Amino acid sequence: MNHLLKLLDLSSEEIIDILNLADQLKYEQKHGIPHNTLKGMTLGMIFQKASTRTRVSFETGMYQLGGHALFLSSKELQIGRGEPVQDTARVLSRYVNGIMIRTFEQEEVENLAHYGTVPIINGLTDFCHPCQVLADLQTVREYKNKLDGLNMCYIGDGNNMANSLTVGCLKVGMNVSLACPNDYRPDAKVLEFAKEYKNFKLVTDPKEAATDADVLFTDVWASMGQEGEAEKRRIAFKGYQINDDIMKLAKSDAMVLHCLPAHREEEITAKVFEQHAAEIFDEAENRLHAQKAVMVRLIAPEK
Ligand code: CP
Ligand code: NVA
Repeated sequence: MNHLLKLLDLSSEEIIDILNLADQLKYEQKHGIPHNTLKGMTLGMIFQKASTRTRVSFETGMYQLGGHALFLSSKELQIGRGEPVQDTARVLSRYVNGIMIRTFEQEEVENLAHYGTVPIINGLTDFCHPCQVLADLQTVREYKNKLDGLNMCYIGDGNNMANSLTVGCLKVGMNVSLACPNDYRPDAKVLEFAKEYKNFKLVTDPKEAATDADVLFTDVWASMGQEGEAEKRRIAFKGYQINDDIMKLAKSDAMVLHCLPAHREEEITAKVFEQHAAEIFDEAENRLHAQKAVMVRLIAPEK
């Protein structure tokens, strides 16, 4: 693994290896065992969109690994004034040991990897959110002690989260059921990948997807960059909500996860959110551990 651009690029073994390392780093951090694997290293973090979790977990994670992270807002970089990403990649590669980028087009991330000479980590694009899904899988495995054979359900927009969850969950052997409105299905590349799996189902009825679920996911109806469509989407996604009726159809010990930020009473009711807050905030914490594992695998000198 040279970059983390999208989960489609990773083998099942590479995903499990990251989850195992994430568990180990979490244990070490909780027990005060130092792990300065990235001493003297710098991560550049380019943000073209807002962030709470991604920024803070990468910055803190890099510090805990003995390294340093630079927050680079695109508004303040020359990128914001039109300097091409190809040039930015080649310049930053001369200074830093790895680059995390959150942006719109997946192509921009792939371009960074093509032109840069350091590992590139996708911190969310319109296409996918691989770091989030690694943390999600770590959380599911913590609660359920396994991944293989679990029934996952995703209700809502066929967006970056739906894309990465579909790929990540299928690669680790989970049964994947998605409920999305017809006009908001996951990306064609993801559906092409998923169609090889007999344990993949894409439906329009949230109740059908939720039946017998071990873990339910949802995400906002309007993602970053889609604020102008919010009203139209509120109508299109009506009923695509995790609520008591949906939870009655899932297994009695089902988990609920949400990448956050959450819009209560839209994609999830406040009641279900609070009932599952322990899981959801463990999931948020695991961004830290999962991303530290990614950085160690990609940036550590002895890799
Ligand atoms: N889940 C997630 O990526 O959160 P942020 O947008 O706050 O980084
Ligand atoms: N789908 C959301 C995820 C946020 C973490 C977005 O792209 O805004």
